[in-house]
Amino acid sequence: MNHPSFEGQPTIEAPAWVKNRKLVDWVQRVAAMTKPDRIVWCDGSQEEYDRLCAQMVEAGTLKKLNPAKRPNSYLAWSDPSDVARVEDRTFICSQQREDAGPTNNWVAPAEMRSTLGGLFEGAMRGRTMYVVPFSMGPLGSPIAHIGVELSDSPYVVTNMRIMTRMGRKVYDVLGEDGEFVPCVHSVGAPLAAGEKDVPWPCNATKYIVHFPESREIWSYGSGYGGNALLGKKCFALRIASTMGRDEGWLAEHMLILGVTSPEGRKHHVAAAFPSACGKTNFAMLIPPEGLNGWKISTIGDDIAWIKPGKDGRLYAINPEAGYFGVAPGTSEKTNFNAMATLKENVIFTNVALTDDGDVWWEGMTDEPPAHLIDWQGKDWTPAGAKQSGRKAAHPNARFTAPASQCPSIDADWENPAGVAIDAFIFGGRRSTTVPLVTEARNWVEGVYMAATMGSETTAAAAGQQGVVRRDPFAMLPFCGYNMSDYFGHWLKTGERLEQLGAKLPKIFCVNWFRKGADGKFVWPGFGENMRVLSWMVGRVEGSAQGAEHAFGVSPHYEDIDWSGLNFSREQFEQVISVDDAAWRDELALHAELFDTLQHGLPPALTQAKRTLEGKLAA
Ligand code: GTP
Ligand code: SPV
Ligand code: MN
Repeated sequence: MNHPSFEGQPTIEAPAWVKNRKLVDWVQRVAAMTKPDRIVWCDGSQEEYDRLCAQMVEAGTLKKLNPAKRPNSYLAWSDPSDVARVEDRTFICSQQREDAGPTNNWVAPAEMRSTLGGLFEGAMRGRTMYVVPFSMGPLGSPIAHIGVELSDSPYVVTNMRIMTRMGRKVYDVLGEDGEFVPCVHSVGAPLAAGEKDVPWPCNATKYIVHFPESREIWSYGSGYGGNALLGKKCFALRIASTMGRDEGWLAEHMLILGVTSPEGRKHHVAAAFPSACGKTNFAMLIPPEGLNGWKISTIGDDIAWIKPGKDGRLYAINPEAGYFGVAPGTSEKTNFNAMATLKENVIFTNVALTDDGDVWWEGMTDEPPAHLIDWQGKDWTPAGAKQSGRKAAHPNARFTAPASQCPSIDADWENPAGVAIDAFIFGGRRSTTVPLVTEARNWVEGVYMAATMGSETTAAAAGQQGVVRRDPFAMLPFCGYNMSDYFGHWLKTGERLEQLGAKLPKIFCVNWFRKGADGKFVWPGFGENMRVLSWMVGRVEGSAQGAEHAFGVSPHYEDIDWSGLNFSREQFEQVISVDDAAWRDELALHAELFDTLQHGLPPALTQAKRTLEGKLAA
């Protein structure tokens, strides 16, 4: 009898509940190439999850945390070389180079297929290949899309179960001839017969590859987050953005939240900040004392799929089912809702282990514990860290937790119709130059602001940190096609909505990260960002005032509700001021970006630039 989800069964036969011929053929082809010892067709059950976790505990990949402190939770320490996305190893292999554009790495599809053929040949030897069916978006909803990831990493399987709707029900939706995005993932560490495995297998050679035309993903060499959980950045952003271009919708690196005023009026906002720049925090914001009566509810924290409705409004859904969030800096004070979400059923990656079997990271508490085992498995003490500067948790340490556990989750978070967006916010991490908040005067200027956004790089991607780079729409690492065409797609979307006679969402730019002469953030951020958001809601409703300057409209000191916070006019000036000289330099950087993106750059954006330059000169 064929019982395929039984470990140890060297069968590639599909279980009876898998009826999709294309899927079965593809699994057989990939298995023939990668040569795993076993195939497990995942059903997404709790038993399967528990069994895989127990297996990983046995293998040393996971540590089970103290169930009294952190029920049903685990800690993984990755290989120290495999801690973040690898943007220079990420490829968009469209037929034509121009379709990938100058901001993506491109290799001709045939050449890349031949490279991948070499890498994946026998790559899963000695390992199990898991078949992981998942839905991005509520199961069976007309806006959801299905993917199937073949992976030799049980860590990936368990994380995918939290991050997506994963399991047997997906096959029912897929039926006999449903479409799915094929995703192949290997850690690239085949095992010889009898060879002992390491806790975190990976390979120094890494390839994160997308074929936009055939909508395929191939990932090799990394077990980490965005490199390996292929539903997230690879599918829901890079592949989905090209689907959106072709089909008239948007796939964005955005949180989605609901904001309800004290009078009970509810609006929805989608906000794009680059990696590790505050989306999860903003999505779960708790208004400060003094702004009692305002309420934030969470729809998504990282990705939004946005489709125009017949009424000309934009409707957004969160295609994910969990949070893969930045741990460092997360505390009861900064993000109470995230901490509550992390009470149980969590997989932590690269945080520190406490002596009582719980987790800790920088910023979690004011006082660090007296002793820890750091993310590299070494003894760690506060005194030792002061000397060596060694962090207990990796700066890109993450938690994986079910969205349903978030206390601020919105009642509509799984509504297949999505929520109507009233405003878009774009924000970067900028120590200087960019004001706390600016409202664009119109859609084109908003698209211009988003397109030219800069941000200081963070630990979410391998490479140098803290250098300002242009990160258009917070999508630089995630746009699956030519960035100029992407700008054009946004402009066209605006025109389409206008033709339908709808009021376009307002567009705002924010910066929580301006620093003073002492090198410290001037703006208190986190919950206090509610003050800026409530001003934006006032602008959307037409009740709030502002001051027009060269780049748009920013609030006067008086336009912000300061109840319960001591923030002086001088401090406000430090975060809101527009320095002409700094902005001339900034516009030179916009010009550099536009030079790079010249081919196909919408003329409306070059025109917007000239307008802004004119206003600045005046
Ligand atoms: P990805 O998951 O990488 O896409 O990141 P994200 O945009 O969701 O960022 P997240 O909310 O996890 O925040 C990243 C880091 O920025 C954390 O260390 C936060 O504590 C910090 N942070 C978030 N919001 C603010 C803020 O308003 N002010 C300051 N100073 N720091 C913030
Ligand atoms: C990001 O880097 O923007 C993330 C984490 O959200 S990852 O899944 O690794 O891409
Ligand atoms: Mn992200």
